[in-house]
Amino acid sequence: MFSYQFSETHEMIRQTAREFAQSEIAPSAIERDEHSTFPTEIVKKMGELGFMGMMVSPEYGGSGLDAVSYVIAMEEISKVDASCGVIMSVNNSLVCWGLETFGTPEQKERYLKPLAMGEKLGAFCLSEPEAGSDATHQHTNAKQDGDHWVIDGMKNWITNGTSADIYLVFAQTDREKRHKGITCFIVERTAEGFAPGKKEDKLGIRSSDTCSIALSNVRVHQDAVLGGVGGGFKIAMESLNGGRIGIAAQALGIAQGAFERAVAYSKERVAFGKPISELQAIQFKLADMSVKTEAARLLTLRAAVLKDNHENYVKEAAMAKLSASKAAVEVALEAIQVHGGYGYVREYQVERMLRDAKITEIYEGTSEIQHIVISRELLKNM
Ligand code: CAA
Repeated sequence: MFSYQFSETHEMIRQTAREFAQSEIAPSAIERDEHSTFPTEIVKKMGELGFMGMMVSPEYGGSGLDAVSYVIAMEEISKVDASCGVIMSVNNSLVCWGLETFGTPEQKERYLKPLAMGEKLGAFCLSEPEAGSDATHQHTNAKQDGDHWVIDGMKNWITNGTSADIYLVFAQTDREKRHKGITCFIVERTAEGFAPGKKEDKLGIRSSDTCSIALSNVRVHQDAVLGGVGGGFKIAMESLNGGRIGIAAQALGIAQGAFERAVAYSKERVAFGKPISELQAIQFKLADMSVKTEAARLLTLRAAVLKDNHENYVKEAAMAKLSASKAAVEVALEAIQVHGGYGYVREYQVERMLRDAKITEIYEGTSEIQHIVISRELLKNM
């Protein structure tokens, strides 16, 4: 049974994230979107505030908070700029979580600590040109050579791809074993043969950077194997379960941001002799937008609470992402409609929210993949 009450700590995190987002992120959001500028200074400050390793234990430089705190901060940041949201989400859920859960004490000291403190940035390299949804079909290969591994292949759609310092790279080390032959390697940006390509020119989340990465004879020591040889696919799947809570919270932030802008505009804009918020046509839209956003919030919090309680949250995380990403797209689209022609221009920001929203239905598992995960889990348990 799900019931929840926010603690004082949660309220404090919301306040801190909200103030930071409004004062430090909002002023440059339109310009960074237009010029695809990576928010280097903002990411540094998010690190100083403890937002880059929110659930990591303080022993390894993290904030030691729960998943609910993470959802709250992600929502507030993404409400203002979803690009900053995804940068934060990948570092927290897909890189720090895996390192803390599967890393050796040496790996945690060397890689997790600077990532959790925001001194370094992480990226997660699972997708490939021919392995997106079908993630078990990794073409990237790693061969053992003495006490080293040599990695060759191509990764793509890598968030933080050109800006990161530390990359989790998944590669096939024993093709016969299919997904049980996939291994995760910790690769530093400076490794010879590791070559991030040019930034993709994207529809949305333009201030985050996404690129392909070519790996050509990249040699890493065997100490760079995370979670054991052949343990990579498990790391990828389990990291993505938590990642889906982060992306659900990002989508929730977009929906909430678009909704708030629509409400504010509807109270200011006068038509037919009164604010349009007094017209039933607009009131019904606002009601629908609010229902979708609240439903997404409840599902996202439920998944976070289950994770915090160490209960199975695979299905709930997928439900949260499926529902919140749909809500983000629909609410942002409707926010444009409430704004009329003004919604179609950059200055009013709701068009950016729609462009940013679309990717939440694609990355960290498309909506179609979430349907697969949900149906498999529910059939397993009924
Ligand atoms: N949690 C834990 N384990 C899972 C899992 C989950 N959600 N889903 C599958 N697995 C496990 C299975 O139990 C199985 O393990 P065992 O053999 O040990 O039992 C193994 O993974 C393989 O599963 P299947 O045999 O079911 O393989 P499949 O090919 O039929 O399905 C899939 C696998 C669920 C479709 C998987 O490939 C998948 O999740 N694809 C989507 C990948 C994805 O989300 N990519 C996002 C890219 S990262 C990104 O976007 C980051 C970014 O930069 C923003």
